[in-house]
Amino acid sequence: MTQRGIIVVILAAGKGTRMHSDLPKVLHPLAGRPMIQYLIHTVEGLEPERVVVIVGPGMESVARAVAPHWTLIQSHRLGTGHAVAATRELLHEFNGEILVLCGDVPLLPRAALSRMLSVIRAADLQTCLVVLGFHPKNPAGYGRLITASDGSLCAIVEHQEATPSQQAMGLCNAGAIVVRSEYLFHLLSAVGNNNAAREYYLTDIVAVATHNGLSCSYVETESEAVELFGINTQRDLARAEAFMQEQLRGAMLDSGVTLVDPLTVHCCFDTKIGRNVIIHPYVVFGSGVTIEDNVEIQSFCHLEQSTVSAGARIGPYARLRPGAKIHANAHIGNFVEIKSSVVEHGAKVNHLSYIGNGRVGAGANIGAGTIFCNYDGYVKASTDVGAGAFIGSNSALVAPVKIGDGAIIGAGSVITKDVADNALAVARCLQRERPGWASLRHNKTGEGKTAQKRRIK
Ligand code: UD1
Ligand code: MG
Repeated sequence: MTQRGIIVVILAAGKGTRMHSDLPKVLHPLAGRPMIQYLIHTVEGLEPERVVVIVGPGMESVARAVAPHWTLIQSHRLGTGHAVAATRELLHEFNGEILVLCGDVPLLPRAALSRMLSVIRAADLQTCLVVLGFHPKNPAGYGRLITASDGSLCAIVEHQEATPSQQAMGLCNAGAIVVRSEYLFHLLSAVGNNNAAREYYLTDIVAVATHNGLSCSYVETESEAVELFGINTQRDLARAEAFMQEQLRGAMLDSGVTLVDPLTVHCCFDTKIGRNVIIHPYVVFGSGVTIEDNVEIQSFCHLEQSTVSAGARIGPYARLRPGAKIHANAHIGNFVEIKSSVVEHGAKVNHLSYIGNGRVGAGANIGAGTIFCNYDGYVKASTDVGAGAFIGSNSALVAPVKIGDGAIIGAGSVITKDVADNALAVARCLQRERPGWASLRHNKTGEGKTAQKRRIK
């Protein structure tokens, strides 16, 4: 028998009221990535015929985050059952398995979904759906799976509808249900909203099915499965983030990265780190960071969308902003900010500098307090420092400007014109000196002060 196809429906139209945030709930990031994108990535691995994400009116930002997958607008948010019913027109001719997921359960493992699909495919045709069950440490807020003595699933009762004895049950709905397409919309049409929230609960299709003589089944995960936690509040989000960070740091340690104080290092879902890398305490990786082998990152550095090549040394207190490319054996020191710039092989920017929209040539030395003045209030312009150049401390290089290979810039210069290879450029007032002037002033000021004191007396 040929296997039937799958369509995935992800529910993401809820207001996320409990988050107390203007950002749609499913766009809140986990380890730097909007939570819905984890789920999208997971279900893509199931090779579904289509993924449809249900969004609310005005949630174009969610549509953009899930593109090229389809979105469908649930015009009034009347509950999870109502949200799935919005797909009726789109899916009524589909013949296969419809997997309904909650967009706020982002870390759902693909293996659990595959198990659900295997169970429904192996079951007799009277089995209309399979639910994913789990045992959260704190079951408050989750729907409870009510099972019959033969082990079959006969209802899901939402927490707020459950009796105290039902609430005491630990087996909960993880928010993943796979339903045979031929039953889904019939079951949904029998679901009402006569409950505490006045909502159409998707979970009520289980009781409707049982009532109509159909069977429902469930698969259960073994542990308390932190990955199945729903994210409804900022506390839930913080807990999920802590879990993700632990996973990411664990993977780094397993691959041989030295994290001197792991709990203080914050990673992103896509942070890539090579071999023999040492990361000191309090380092934050934003998205898109690649660190090659033998790099040392000292404390209190912040990096995003940057690459650091082999043998480079960063920090302490350095900031690499998007587009920073630090080549092999370069040194970036304290209170240095680099943006959209390349620091070539062996170059040094060791203290208190801003390098923006530029290039620091191989082996060049950028003195303390150097600023690439890259913005005139309207446009950004670039600064190019040649290989082996030496920029004296406290210099301002006003872009667009080019400093030749091997050139030297005198400390405190404001450079507005290109400097030729191997030239010396000094652009500051000439130093003047008046012999004895200081003692004259001391004497004069001293006399004045004594006279003043006399008057006050
Ligand atoms: C839901 C389940 C509960 C389960 C839990 C797992 C229902 C009625 N309850 O509860 O059994 O244990 O998830 O985490 O299904 N949504 C819409 N349109 C709506 C309402 C909600 O698209 O009209 C979306 C939300 O954006 C969210 C998902 O559906 O992504 C679940 O809604 P939520 O309000 O979070 O339900 P829970 O109370 O968590
Ligand atoms: Mg939820």
